[in-house]
Amino acid sequence: MKNITIAIDGFSSTGKSTLAKQLAKHLGYVYVDTGAMYRAITYFAMKEGFINSDFFNKKALIERLPSIQLHFEFNTDLGFAEIFLNNENVEKQIRTLEVSAFVSKVAEVSEVRAKLVEQQQAMGKNKAIVMDGRDIGTVVFPDAELKIFMTASPETRAHRRFEELQAKGDSVSYEDVLKNVQERDYIDTHREDSPLVIANDAVEIDNSYLSREEQFTAVLELVEEVA
Ligand code: C5P
Repeated sequence: MKNITIAIDGFSSTGKSTLAKQLAKHLGYVYVDTGAMYRAITYFAMKEGFINSDFFNKKALIERLPSIQLHFEFNTDLGFAEIFLNNENVEKQIRTLEVSAFVSKVAEVSEVRAKLVEQQQAMGKNKAIVMDGRDIGTVVFPDAELKIFMTASPETRAHRRFEELQAKGDSVSYEDVLKNVQERDYIDTHREDSPLVIANDAVEIDNSYLSREEQFTAVLELVEEVA
């Protein structure tokens, strides 16, 4: 089997990262969660007071972008790589509903996208990579050998995210999670720079009614066809 690039795009909370992690582990590939990169920049902007519910000082964030360093470190106990913002592990801090509320606004900024896309392309230059996000098959790796586009109904996705947050002890309401999922979908599909669209050559998977195993088996067959 030759090494390939696998691009997984789709709406929020469609289980992209679960599938990507399963694939990476099975194939011995690197897994990169690009959502974590946008979330880490958002967390930085929040900490610096550049964004809150009333305003967003894009200019200040853009000016500080060169000082932001992101890297991943593989955690053998967890079985996946955690993200570091300027050498601080921020894996926990970036998964809150608060970060989710602002991340799509930060991800609209072209300068942010350009910085992250450059780093993502560098990480994938040797292939053998599974990357998930919103623009992987369209912008980051338009030549990826396999592109998957994942969908599920907003309610299914909100339920999954709600359960995840609850399991972590976050006291959130289902309604707030659903609202966040819908808002992010809207911004992600309507933004000017790299909107979330399905690449012409992507395989669409609606996993509203697919189990994790069924989905994994189906995608593995696709990998075997192209690798
Ligand atoms: O994948 P996740 O839900 O963690 O992504 C958080 C947000 O980051 C998305 O809603 C989107 O606004 C942004 N994002 C993006 N492009 C990517 C990955 C994530 O715009 N490649």
